[in-house]
Amino acid sequence: MHPAPSLPLNAAMFRPDFVWGAATSAAQIEGAAAEDGRGESIWDRFCAEPGRIVDGSTTAVACDHYHRYKDDVALMKWLGLKAYRFSFAWPRVQPLGRGAWNEKGFDFYDRLIDELLGAGIQPHATLYHWDLPAALQDEMRGWQARAIVPLFADYAAQVAKRFGDRLATLATINEPWCVATLGHETAQFAPGITSRKAAAQVSHHLLLAHGSAVDAMRSVCKAPLGIVLNHTPSYPARPTGADRRAARLDDGLDVRWYMDPLFMGAYPADVLEHLGADAPQVQAGDAAQIARALDFLGINFYTRRLVSAEQPAPPVPGAQGFTDMGWEVVPEVLTQHLTRLAREYAPPPIYITENGMANADVLGDGGVADGARIDYLRSHLLALARAMELGADVRGYFYWSLLDNFEWNSGYAKRFGLVHVDYASQRRTPKDSAYWYREFIREHAKARPPAPAA
Ligand code: FCB
Repeated sequence: MHPAPSLPLNAAMFRPDFVWGAATSAAQIEGAAAEDGRGESIWDRFCAEPGRIVDGSTTAVACDHYHRYKDDVALMKWLGLKAYRFSFAWPRVQPLGRGAWNEKGFDFYDRLIDELLGAGIQPHATLYHWDLPAALQDEMRGWQARAIVPLFADYAAQVAKRFGDRLATLATINEPWCVATLGHETAQFAPGITSRKAAAQVSHHLLLAHGSAVDAMRSVCKAPLGIVLNHTPSYPARPTGADRRAARLDDGLDVRWYMDPLFMGAYPADVLEHLGADAPQVQAGDAAQIARALDFLGINFYTRRLVSAEQPAPPVPGAQGFTDMGWEVVPEVLTQHLTRLAREYAPPPIYITENGMANADVLGDGGVADGARIDYLRSHLLALARAMELGADVRGYFYWSLLDNFEWNSGYAKRFGLVHVDYASQRRTPKDSAYWYREFIREHAKARPPAPAA
């Protein structure tokens, strides 16, 4: 592992055109779940099943962003964000996932994008951040059916045609590993299925849908296209051969299973062997369809995974602490992982599309004193600067998340925001970390003023 960089963080470590942003996703903030013709999503359904969400909450209102987007964009402007990452809700713009488009749904994103551009904030959009139209789950078992691939490509083309010229980037799918594994193997996420075979097939359909969407979007828009992967680098828990092998397989299931077909044109042989009869059904031409050239790669980084062949596994050291999710804080892993990606895959330019921490924040008279989040931000930005110094081509950073929001199966119990949300009143209060980030963005602008437009 790289030693922690010794230099203190300095905004001038980032290139002048480096993009500072924050991220959210539709299901986590929009609310208005039954408004203006929005269709039901698999997450609406999942929340209604007893025991699925720890606090029994739902996506029905969330941060009410659907109605408060103007205030939220004003907050972003106050923060000095150069960019905002959000997702389109497929069931809002095409309630059944096929057939009729919902103009009122498109109007919302039209207004949001205009508001962002008016505030001088680049819109970075994602097509699929997990809220599948429930009708597709009913009709064809959602991502388990290959028939979903052309439907996703139609949806992608429609969004790209309408908005592509106003978007700074357009990503197909957020974290296919989570959709496949957490949604279809461990059942922690919607649609709550427990089948390794289904999960493997889903991962293949997600990748195929990604590649088909890229083709469909290229023919109708000029927006830079990419995909967003979550990487939780795997390390052996003990320095033994067995733990090293276990970590290598874990890396195969998480990192290589997606990176290899996207950038090298084939699934990793060791993982195929491990899956055996559960390996996905693949047809001729699929590999080329998946490996379409991309303009950027989004990486979401939070922590690492220590893997052991033995049970019980040794305790996780956590020398730099744990977040409120119980995730170990290991900023140096970001440096190491980004340099590894550069070395092994020569990927297109990277955006850190998510990075952040849940913290047990308390709103007091003076706001929210979230010093731990400031430390997390500072150490991860330093790790990022170090990766760039070592050759990783990273163009921007999006803190997860702009707002406290619906954290999937953790409901509203975990707070990731730079901005605190009081859900009863929907009052927004910037935390100390928001002030820190704002100041850092300002310092960056001062350190290297952008060249005047020609
Ligand atoms: C990622 C998700 C995002 C958020 C963070 C904490 O896996 O993409 O929606 O929940 O984790």
